Amino acid sequence: MPATVNGIVASAKGEPVSLRQVTVPDPGPGEVVVAVQACGVCHTDLHYRDGAINDDFPFLLGHEAAGLVDTVGDGVTNVAPGDYVILAWRAPCGVCRSCRRGRPWYCFDSANAAQPMTLDDGTKLSPALGIGAFAEKTLVAAGQAVKIDPAARPEAAGLIGCGIMAGFGAAVKNGGVGRGDSVAVIGCGGVGNAAIAASSVAGARMIIAVDIDDRKLDWAKGFGATHIVNSSGTDPVEAIRALTDGNGADVVIEAVGRPETYRQAFFARDLAGTLVQVGVPDPSMKIELDLIEVFGRGGALKSSWYGDCLPTRDFPMLIDLYLTGRLDLDGFVSETIGLDQVEEAFARMERGEVLRSVVVI
Ligand code: APR
Ligand code: ZN
Ligand code: ZN
Repeated sequence: MPATVNGIVASAKGEPVSLRQVTVPDPGPGEVVVAVQACGVCHTDLHYRDGAINDDFPFLLGHEAAGLVDTVGDGVTNVAPGDYVILAWRAPCGVCRSCRRGRPWYCFDSANAAQPMTLDDGTKLSPALGIGAFAEKTLVAAGQAVKIDPAARPEAAGLIGCGIMAGFGAAVKNGGVGRGDSVAVIGCGGVGNAAIAASSVAGARMIIAVDIDDRKLDWAKGFGATHIVNSSGTDPVEAIRALTDGNGADVVIEAVGRPETYRQAFFARDLAGTLVQVGVPDPSMKIELDLIEVFGRGGALKSSWYGDCLPTRDFPMLIDLYLTGRLDLDGFVSETIGLDQVEEAFARMERGEVLRSVVVI
């Protein structure tokens, strides 16, 4: 029997989101229905509401979630009803040209549920990042459900599904941060602070947190930043150079998604250093750089898609770090809220008052 559940829907560009009745079909072949327990409010949900991702309204928002497998469709072998899972927005297909090149973390044809979830009048919903987890239940491809240790509480575990994994992977996978490196992170929201926590776990010797908001910098210290720079009144490039014997950092992570912060990250690197852009820009943004600087400074300019993660490999790894006290996921949970409080949580996010508001169902 299809289920009728409460879900948070963005109906039109820029309009406040609302609680609606959502019909979740029984899982078809290769699909699973997950009873959502917790789902973080990510900046990307707000981008969907504001029409900055695409115009496929109405959206069923939410994509940073943990929950229990409710029912499974034919042919599903990776999970069973009752399993505790984190939802991933990457489920490698195994056969696209990237998977065949042995790079499933870039899979170009990641799996999503084949059937739509709908409003009660039959209107098809577009689930945010193929998930749609601000809902009591959601339908996903089985490969999107990644089984983890039930000892991790859902409010913390769910965050691994997007922001934590993106920031952590940006540092240690894209940036290759390792023992003894100097790292600067520009933008210390959920993603930037996850990059700071990752750099600390990986053994970086210096971790410079840059933000325009002192509250974020305070949190950054808690996640392992060794130095902080408030760039609202100081040139962060000069400050990072001053802290690194005039050289710049080995790895700079841009976790804002703006041209000016990309430029800062570019110039704040040491020679042959690495820039990792994990902040998502608006499609209208442009950057101009002297080509001789791009050549002359060498190194690597990378963008990070979901931290190059392979969810089945990396989610359990992050859970182990959490459960053994080496990754403070609880520190990212600023508040827990009900399903009907997502719109207020967007406002708190915009005012910079939270790292993550987490919907608990
Ligand atoms: N310089 C430095 N920091 C800045 C600047 C700036 N010019 N502008 C904004 N910031 C800081 C904010 O103060 C905030 O702490 O960047 C941080 C952004 O954090 P969040 O809004 O919490 O976003 P987050 O979830 O961390 O995501 C960061 O990555 O996934 C993408 O779409 C996401 O583009 C966003 C980025
Ligand atoms: Zn693939
Ligand atoms: Zn997200």
